[in-house]
Amino acid sequence: MSERPDIVPVGQVPELGAVPERMHAYVIRPERFGEPKQSFQHEEMPVWELGPGEVLVQVMAAGVNFNGIWAGLGKPVNVLRGHGLDFHIAGSDASGVVWAVGPGVNDHTVGDEVVLHCNHLVNPGTNDLQTIWGYETPDGSFAQFTKVQAQQVLPKPAHLSWEDASSYGLTYYTAHRMLVDRAKVQPGEDVLIWGAGGGLGVFAVQLCKVMGARAIAVVSSDDKADLVMRLGAHGVINRRDFPALQYKDDMTPEEQKAHSADLKGFGKRIWEILGERKGPDVVFEHVGKATFPASVFLAAKYGRIVICGATTGYNLNFDVRHLWMRQKRIIGSHFADADSASRANRLVIQDKVKPVMTRLFTWEEIPEAHQLMYENKLHGTVACLVGAPRPGLKNLEETLAAIANG
Ligand SMILES: NC(=O)c1ccc[n+]([C@@H]2O[C@H](COP(=O)([O-])OP(=O)(O)OC[C@H]3O[C@@H](n4cnc5c(N)ncnc54)[C@H](OP(=O)(O)O)[C@@H]3O)[C@@H](O)[C@H]2O)c1
Repeated sequence: MSERPDIVPVGQVPELGAVPERMHAYVIRPERFGEPKQSFQHEEMPVWELGPGEVLVQVMAAGVNFNGIWAGLGKPVNVLRGHGLDFHIAGSDASGVVWAVGPGVNDHTVGDEVVLHCNHLVNPGTNDLQTIWGYETPDGSFAQFTKVQAQQVLPKPAHLSWEDASSYGLTYYTAHRMLVDRAKVQPGEDVLIWGAGGGLGVFAVQLCKVMGARAIAVVSSDDKADLVMRLGAHGVINRRDFPALQYKDDMTPEEQKAHSADLKGFGKRIWEILGERKGPDVVFEHVGKATFPASVFLAAKYGRIVICGATTGYNLNFDVRHLWMRQKRIIGSHFADADSASRANRLVIQDKVKPVMTRLFTWEEIPEAHQLMYENKLHGTVACLVGAPRPGLKNLEETLAAIANG
């Protein structure tokens, strides 16, 4: 192999296994905390050194998540204080190629085409403490090279482009964990999915179909309604038809009356969709304060409400009588572990679950992609090219040919 290169231009890759001294990266530093257009700045950084059990991946494409925005804002926590470095490279989703392996890594080889899950173990070998790679660790995917633990590395679905393969990890593995491992959805069950056209929701809908369950998808627009029906939902409800369903603190008696009426109307719409007078066996929750009381009310007797987030607020106020009288359960869920992510990824490899990438950005547009997400101007899952010179490339061979052809 030739001598170690210094740095390689973006859109090109060094010889397989040759690790440059430095790399192009988008770097967050405390002195420029703020909106993404300010916090994501291009720099040339040293390539990561590998420790035992670690893998260096040449990033081909990276998925965009909200956690990069939080890291750049320095709020609600300063993640740099957590990992102790004076800089941070965000990015918790990627596809790419294994470029080097650290001591003790036997299950991955230089040249493997891979996707990454973001469950980084604080104590490798045990499952007790998890942190999120690219958020709580400084070595994320908005750089030519990223450093991960060997357990984070999964095979890339060969039929997908780099960008599609980089787009689904965080949201899909979370949805899979919620429905398959935590709520244990069974064939024939009915699942109410809030935000069904969103990042988690598009995968929850597809998983219900794979599991033989009926998804009742809740959305707020006609184009999302079309999308979720194409993805296999059994029925769809536009929540704009029930504006008073949203829970608010300190409702006036009139608002309370409208809220109760919309709650009952929404329940009836579910019966119409299911063709029987029953509620959903499982409610897929991540909206939190605005919908949680409805979720508890609407779930069937013995129903489960599985929750992983609270977009509209995490202090939940609900009538607990609906929970105990009808013996329902609330189940917490947080991301996924390597085993669960691996089982989920197999469904993508088998083409049973498909990525739903709504927009692709270039390397230069990485700050803009985060800025648009920050301004709520994007929906669904979004990815950026990093090492891949153009969209549509599926493997290293095609990528090298594209680079050679300019
Ligand atoms: N714990 C974990 O491991 C984990 C992992 C991933 C995500 N999360 C959390 O899960 C949440 C959702 O993530 P995501 O990627 O799916 O976000 P997303 O792509 O923004 O989708 C969320 C959807 O929720 C719906 N929604 C928003 N406000 C609502 C309201 N007031 N009432 C009803 N529906 C509302 C919207 O759909 P409509 O407007 O079409 O109804 C929106 O598309 C976030 O809070 C995120 O932090 C947690």
